[in-house]
Amino acid sequence: MSEVIVALDTPSSESALQLVDRLGEAAGYYKVGLELFTSAGPAMVSELKARDKRVFLDLKLHDIPNTVARAVRAACDLDVDLLTVHACGGQLMLDAACESVEGDLQLLAVTILTSLGPEDLSIIWKRRVDDASDEVLRLAHSAQESGVHGVVASAWEVARIRVQLGSDFLIAAPGIRPKGTDHGDQKRVASPAEAVESGADFLVVGRPVTQAPDPSAALAVIRDEMDALPGSHG
Ligand code: C5P
Repeated sequence: MSEVIVALDTPSSESALQLVDRLGEAAGYYKVGLELFTSAGPAMVSELKARDKRVFLDLKLHDIPNTVARAVRAACDLDVDLLTVHACGGQLMLDAACESVEGDLQLLAVTILTSLGPEDLSIIWKRRVDDASDEVLRLAHSAQESGVHGVVASAWEVARIRVQLGSDFLIAAPGIRPKGTDHGDQKRVASPAEAVESGADFLVVGRPVTQAPDPSAALAVIRDEMDALPGSHG
């Protein structure tokens, strides 16, 4: 059963809540990321919680272990449901993040951003990369060893992660692009159906919904695609 998380990549709490109220019951899980958290702060999380929504706080923490541990504790106090740290922050940082978790918050480790393709990684790492999946798998394994609850990866890698790291390990897949929608800056993209079939727990969807002329209709198309698959529920 895969769940859609709508990424509230909007500039203010007003625009974010307008969208939330417009989508109503159709969306129960929202992502608050860097733009919205920087502009609207923790109050945004409270507003969503007051509307009975679950919150994925996508801050992609990546700093020294002590700093990340303290930020994780602060997020626990906000009662968010999911929080991201970067898997490449290293084992000590991941261990410190996990030890800091209190309550029901679940930590996801970002493996390799879905906006990076093999050409980008070849430039960053100064060696030829044809496929990011081995590196994603390596990062996912070390994240699991630290005790994080799951990872963020593209749908291209989800099936391998699922097989190697088990059915309880959470996998969130951004870079979701229904057929005919603009890829924007995303490179490792997949359709909603492909992401569900690969075994992703969460489909993180931003612009295909938020920038659509009718966000409710765009979300409904995604859900229909997911529901059409045998054994899936959007
Ligand atoms: O608009 P779009 O559907 O591309 O939004 C994807 C969302 O998922 C963005 O908010 C982005 O920050 C987030 N994300 C991502 N890739 C990751 C982790 C998070 O695109 N690896």
